[in-house]
Amino acid sequence: MPVVEVQDVVKEYERGGQPLLALDGVSLSIESGTFVSITGPSGAGKSSLLHLLGGLDRATRGSVRVDHAELQELSDDALTAFRRQRLGFVFQFFNLLPTLSAWQNVALPRLLDGVPLRRTRARAVELLEQMGLADRVAHRPAELSGGELQRVAIARAMVADPVLILADEPTGNLDSVTGHGVLSRLKGCAADGRTVVMVTHDASAAAFGDRTVELRDGRILADRT
Ligand SMILES: Nc1ncnc2c1ncn2[C@@H]1O[C@H](COP(=O)(O)OP(=O)(O)OP(=O)(O)O)[C@@H](O)[C@H]1O
Ligand SMILES: [Mg+2]
Repeated sequence: MPVVEVQDVVKEYERGGQPLLALDGVSLSIESGTFVSITGPSGAGKSSLLHLLGGLDRATRGSVRVDHAELQELSDDALTAFRRQRLGFVFQFFNLLPTLSAWQNVALPRLLDGVPLRRTRARAVELLEQMGLADRVAHRPAELSGGELQRVAIARAMVADPVLILADEPTGNLDSVTGHGVLSRLKGCAADGRTVVMVTHDASAAAFGDRTVELRDGRILADRT
């Protein structure tokens, strides 16, 4: 069973009173345990597609199914809960809270689901260990390198045990060696049976994926495994 099933999706924005087609009939099916790279030039619709998969935005037309849920049919509240419980997000600029330690940042999404931070501590520490950060657990973001910050962010994305991890340019702010360390960790997440969808400009980053979907002008131009 595919974990992601996108059918005939159109995403239309409005700019200066004119309609703008960011996605123009995209269909895509992703099997669980796959690491998929989404590439394409600026403006191709990569982030738009990722936002639809993540329930951060809604399609104008078409169907977006993730883990058996039709996201188009969920209420805003249900979508928020779905995101927190089933999905993990990794962003280019890490989005960690500066006043919290690494483990507290990892545990934070559970707090939003009503689980006290201290009850998630053991799980947060375990995830940081898996990311090679056993000796960084109590560090604040300002005391960590870019690669370390992004590995904390991956641990945070994993804390709710998501089926799908979505990453938008996760190595966009890192040098290539550090970036490859981060990509290996994402690949490890997929090897554990999770599904990873990553948007990237960088061909060498895309090559970490099992499959590369290339977008151009809101359409799928190529789909290689
Ligand atoms: N909120 C919005 N309002 C209006 N237009 C938008 C909005 N978001 C994106 N667009 C437009 O939709 C198109 C696709 O944008 P998108 O952000 O998906 O591209 P991208 O492939 O992620 O590009 P980049 O590589 O630069 O991040 C672009 O023409 C963009 O200007
Ligand atoms: Mg983008």
